Amino acid sequence: MYRKETCGELRLANVGQEVTLAGWVQRVRKMGGLTFVDLRDRYGITQLVFDESDGNAEMCDKANHLGREYVIQAIGVVRERESKNAKNPTGDIEIVVSQLNIISTSEVPPFTIEDNTDGGDDLRMQYRYLDLRRPMVRKNLELRHKLAFEVRRYLDAHNFLEIETPMLIKSTPEGARDFVVPSRMNPGQFYALPQSPQQFKQLLMVAGMDRYFQIVKCFRDEDLRADRQPEFTQIDCEMSFAEQEDVIEMFEGMMKHLFKELKGIEFDKFPRMTWEDAMKYYGSDKPDLRFDMKFVELKNETKGYQIPSVFPEGLFSVFDSVPYVAGINAKGCANYTRKQIDGLTDFVKKSQIGAKGLIWVRKNEDGSVKSSIDKFYAPEVIEGVLNKMEAENGDLILILCGEMRKTQKQLCALRLEMGQQLGFRDPSKFVPLWVIDFPLFEWDDETQRYYATHHPFTMPNPEDIPLLDTDQGKVRSWAYDCVMNGVELGGGSVRIHDSALQQKMLELLGFTDEKAMEQFGCLINAFKYGAPPHAGLAFGLDRVVSMFAEIDSIRDTIAFPKNNSGRDVMIDAPCAIDQAQLDELQIALNLKEE
Ligand code: AMO
Repeated sequence: MYRKETCGELRLANVGQEVTLAGWVQRVRKMGGLTFVDLRDRYGITQLVFDESDGNAEMCDKANHLGREYVIQAIGVVRERESKNAKNPTGDIEIVVSQLNIISTSEVPPFTIEDNTDGGDDLRMQYRYLDLRRPMVRKNLELRHKLAFEVRRYLDAHNFLEIETPMLIKSTPEGARDFVVPSRMNPGQFYALPQSPQQFKQLLMVAGMDRYFQIVKCFRDEDLRADRQPEFTQIDCEMSFAEQEDVIEMFEGMMKHLFKELKGIEFDKFPRMTWEDAMKYYGSDKPDLRFDMKFVELKNETKGYQIPSVFPEGLFSVFDSVPYVAGINAKGCANYTRKQIDGLTDFVKKSQIGAKGLIWVRKNEDGSVKSSIDKFYAPEVIEGVLNKMEAENGDLILILCGEMRKTQKQLCALRLEMGQQLGFRDPSKFVPLWVIDFPLFEWDDETQRYYATHHPFTMPNPEDIPLLDTDQGKVRSWAYDCVMNGVELGGGSVRIHDSALQQKMLELLGFTDEKAMEQFGCLINAFKYGAPPHAGLAFGLDRVVSMFAEIDSIRDTIAFPKNNSGRDVMIDAPCAIDQAQLDELQIALNLKEE
């Protein structure tokens, strides 16, 4: 038997007991005639002691020559430690070793296996199996397991069936780019990996499965960010005979269950906000509500009031020439130095944000006012702005202006930056929200056409159906997102279950009848055979785990993630394949020169 106990379980109550441990050597320290070895496994770290005065010089010598990450077995007796380590759960005891076996030696690892490792990102990803030995990453995987387990427990208790859906499916044009897989048996034809099991789960509702879920891999060939991976995992769900309210209630219940079981946190009812308000007050469909700092529109306050003597012809047109002016109140920041304000100006001017400039107004502690537009506006105007912003002494008002949606996005970035600078974005504080009433369609300037905001199966709000033919942009949908701390954890919608309405939707999205049947014919036909009303949603499991783990990136919630170029640097994928494989697939490469 390799071991009888783990490295995380021995306590004072075990003193005097003979134990057998196995694990990895974390550290070896020699102090006079004593050698201490920290032995690590998944469960913890236990201190081993080798004592030369016990007369086993050969074993002590062996212990002195153990290298980092050797795998060893140690047999010995538990004793109380003289100098205890309160930080370690096993820190009250140590094992006086009588027998040491080296099971496996190790080369010197390329970085230290501890939370504060000296390994850079690339190196850690290349040796991910060593990186995973670090307690922090291991804890995230344990959390992921527990969370998935609780999801299954909750959904099982509510009659959901976990049903697998295929990974080799048909390519669809909506959404992100597909990853495609060539078919050897059908030369010239390709499968796509699912971006989500959307159509299958709807077909399962037509099939009468009533309540479906699946913890499932999804694949999207899109640009990567901290919260995006090309392959990620969804908690994918669908319910029959359900309306928006049923779905929200069921999955709010699931989130509450997870927070209670895993973090001991209880929530009241999650607040709701319409998409329109989310954009108006926070410039985002996933507002971070850990702090307030709402947008205040200032167009009326600033219209046409410039100082006539300076600009007799009303030439100062920063505000007048734009449709939208809005500000945020950074409370208590009037003491920001010029340098700090310049820093904020540089921030909003960065290319990813793209504002032309930042206007600021300080209301100092003594009530005096100073602003970047003193020269252009009469004091009454600036006073009007301060009143509208509900500015108090000590506040700093930051204003952006321009085209509405663009400026809202820029102001959103500035608000989040201020939240960060003021310490409001505490990862251990959780503020949930449902965003509802999303627009059904989104206009794309580049291609000059509407796209489905969520996906083409989303039900329009019945009140807005008359607008489908007259004012597409105004149609609201029955779609909803579960948002927390500025992160979209999940989203879904009530589905269209009527084949005529589904066909109309596809027509509005620019599909010809032929194309619609080619892409979605299966679903359209299925709806002709008695489709129950149905609705659902999907959570991003990786994002939910990173929220619970209180970390920004989803990467460290995934055992073997891809890097920002979509590569697995550990196994070196993607990679070229043999000519023989290409020949078998009847594929010829036509690579462009770099
Ligand atoms: P959606 O596209 O909003 O909806 O995806 C659902 C959730 O999946 C997560 N997510 C991702 N996580 C990591 N990396 C990615 N690249 C990535 N893309 C999405 C997000 C998101 O909220 N079929 C619909 C759901 C439905 O209507 O039922 C869908 O896939 O957390």
